[in-house]
Amino acid sequence: MDPKRVSVIGACGHVGLPLALVMADVGYDVVGIDLNAEAVKVVAGGKIPYVEHGAQELLDKLLPAGRLRFEMTYGSVQAADVVVIIIGTPIDDNLNPRVDPLLNLVRELKGMLRKDQLIILRSTVSPGITELVKAELEEGTGMVEGREFSLVFAPERVLQTRAVQEIASLPQLIGAFNDVGFERAAAFFSRFNKSKMIRLTPLGAELGKLITNMARYVSFALANEFYLIADSFGANAHEIIRACNEGYPRLDLPRPGPNVGGPCLYKDGYYLLSRMAFPTLVGTAFKINESMPMVIVRKLMSLHKARKVGVLGLAFKADCDDTRNSLSYKVRKLLRNERCEIVDVDPYVAGKADLERLRGVDAIILMTPHKEFRSLKKILQAVGHDQCVVADLWNFWSVQPAPADGVYWAKNVTINE
Ligand SMILES: NC(=O)c1ccc[n+]([C@@H]2O[C@H](COP(=O)([O-])OP(=O)(O)OC[C@H]3O[C@@H](n4cnc5c(N)ncnc54)[C@H](O)[C@@H]3O)[C@@H](O)[C@H]2O)c1
Repeated sequence: MDPKRVSVIGACGHVGLPLALVMADVGYDVVGIDLNAEAVKVVAGGKIPYVEHGAQELLDKLLPAGRLRFEMTYGSVQAADVVVIIIGTPIDDNLNPRVDPLLNLVRELKGMLRKDQLIILRSTVSPGITELVKAELEEGTGMVEGREFSLVFAPERVLQTRAVQEIASLPQLIGAFNDVGFERAAAFFSRFNKSKMIRLTPLGAELGKLITNMARYVSFALANEFYLIADSFGANAHEIIRACNEGYPRLDLPRPGPNVGGPCLYKDGYYLLSRMAFPTLVGTAFKINESMPMVIVRKLMSLHKARKVGVLGLAFKADCDDTRNSLSYKVRKLLRNERCEIVDVDPYVAGKADLERLRGVDAIILMTPHKEFRSLKKILQAVGHDQCVVADLWNFWSVQPAPADGVYWAKNVTINE
């Protein structure tokens, strides 16, 4: 059955309001719920309280036509086919994500929910919260997600002030627990969004939203750090960044600026990192990259105490012969500390090209995904057996079942070639 009635909880907020407007505009019967009496009064009175292009025109059209109304109670939820939750999700004084406003709302809603509803969680949440909401709902209603109701996490990624346009045009991530949830949500969004519906797990979509924002935040911080560096030399970072970006296909640095924040970017990093210490930028990037050899060797050794290891690739990048500062050498040192015999193979390094050198190794580590290494079957043929561990953190080779961390026994997988 096509959904008709939609309740939007948090409908007078910066992103809830444009969403409510766009949905009403395509014909959904929308009730906007918000506990902020002042905001409800203003919006129901016909005024958009924020700068949001195109919103005032929609409100002027939809309110008098009775296609959208605003309330301060949850009374409409029971009759709704779709319930969208888009309330604020703040952090506390200690910079920890606050889950209580959302969970309190979910607990309050439990008595009002009914069979066959689609519940869309759209607020930005820290990883794992959709699962928590599902557990709360199932426990409180006695209904099972996927059978009696559907719950998805479908994050909002619009640019505030341009939300009306972007709601209809940005690809929509849908974190679904199952096919039913994805299909129902995709059909619902497709009515007003002509872009792609992209499926992820709920956790994947939660992380995807935070990553989307943090990628921007970090790139801004990088530009600001470049500014500070240039400044210490008395140089103009803007001029340099502009010059570097110009016509160069592999660089798209943003401009430095003193005001990088806002309600999302300020807090979302703390959501993303809620399970780890907040790292600093460039220093951390360096530490992370330089620690990857340690990660890969440790992972390998925890799966199998290898004695003879083939290191594939000595160059620092694929299809290249430059070995300067290649982390392959760091891997070799670490393997040596594990008392391993090392065989390194690299088609671009003199004397190291022959795959046959791998014969008899009991593990292989792919350090550089050269095109000559494309066939894992060929490499295993050279090894001479499949009783070896493969460490492929590049996800260069396609195998089934796909190992999450890229370290696996060759004998336990089917190679897709
Ligand atoms: N602002 C953005 O550009 C943007 C973009 C993408 C995602 N988000 C995310 O969307 C969510 C909402 O952000 P926002 O900027 O619109 O926040 P906001 O504070 O402007 O709006 C939230 C609204 O929810 C209402 N509300 C809070 N608790 C409620 C409850 N229990 N019942 C009913 N209404 C309730 C508030 O009164 C408020 O009007 C956040 O999770 C945010 O991270 C925001």
